[in-house]
Amino acid sequence: MNSHTNKKCLGIQKNRGAVEFLLMNEESATESHQERPHDGAPVPFSEANVKTRVLLVASGKGGVGKSSVTTNLAVALSKRGNDVAVIDADVWGFSIPRMLGITEPPTVIDDMLIPPSAHGVRSISMGFFAEEDQPVIWRGPMLHKALNQFLTDVAWDEPDFLLIDLPPGTGDTAISLAGFLPDSEMLIVTTPQIAAQSVAQRAAFMAEKVELEVKGVIENMSWFTGDDGQRYELFGEGGGSALAEKLGVPLLGQIPLVPTLRAGSDNGNPVAADPSTEIGSIFAEIARVVEEDLKPSKRRHRELKIN
Ligand SMILES: Nc1ncnc2c1ncn2[C@@H]1O[C@H](COP(=O)(O)OP(=O)(O)OP(=O)(O)O)[C@@H](O)[C@H]1O
Ligand SMILES: [Mg+2]
Repeated sequence: MNSHTNKKCLGIQKNRGAVEFLLMNEESATESHQERPHDGAPVPFSEANVKTRVLLVASGKGGVGKSSVTTNLAVALSKRGNDVAVIDADVWGFSIPRMLGITEPPTVIDDMLIPPSAHGVRSISMGFFAEEDQPVIWRGPMLHKALNQFLTDVAWDEPDFLLIDLPPGTGDTAISLAGFLPDSEMLIVTTPQIAAQSVAQRAAFMAEKVELEVKGVIENMSWFTGDDGQRYELFGEGGGSALAEKLGVPLLGQIPLVPTLRAGSDNGNPVAADPSTEIGSIFAEIARVVEEDLKPSKRRHRELKIN
């Protein structure tokens, strides 16, 4: 680890091993952790009158398809004409650049990072600063600071949607982001396994702990359609609706197991880019539901609040 002092801007020292400007010395990281989020640079999305809807994509356990759902939902929302951005908050297991097919690193203008984009979606990720096979080890304060920089040192402007892909589990990342973005909406991804009982409890517990509102559940890996045209429910059935019922929120959609989705995630061709396919149309419908049916009510219009 290096002994560089805290750099204001991400990315500038890419050629020296770009991770180093995020892995600032622990002293300064610890100091910044002790600040309240709003004591530092203001987080643009948490200010009044900002139109951006922030969607945190979470799950009770790993490997259920959070990153795939984040990527494809972002592309589907963009296809609907929205300005969409994605923050890959999984700093250990980043996957968004590969899934979106972004190969260019961010550029720097006036100490701000300009996020690269693909399929109409702008994104920032540790993947732009670390090599894929390079372990990234974070202490809580460093993680907190890095997430803050993803929000404040990137020239996001004011997208219609900012999707945030959370790491598996219910840890520090969600707590930090909930502090920075108290108005964000949480979407929970789950599989159809009815063992979702404990997952439900964990997901609900996390949302409650960070005081965020769960807006809906997305069931992934719901079925596989064989060559015989039959649907096989490889991971059981009912987990998504059971979780949604338990949390008192709608089930926003069911996504089948589709080899093209996996392949598209691996090579940067998200299936949602083509809404004419069956899987593309499923993401298009989830995007419609998120945009229209879950449209926030007056709670977000803080300018209307009478003090
Ligand atoms: N509906 C699907 N059909 C086919 N493959 C899928 C589907 N959903 C996810 N996958 C594949 O499953 C793997 C795990 O998905 P993904 O990385 O999106 O999960 P995750 O919840 O983000 O994982 P982690 O908890 O590790 O962050 C990936 O290889 C992805 O391509
Ligand atoms: Mg992931």
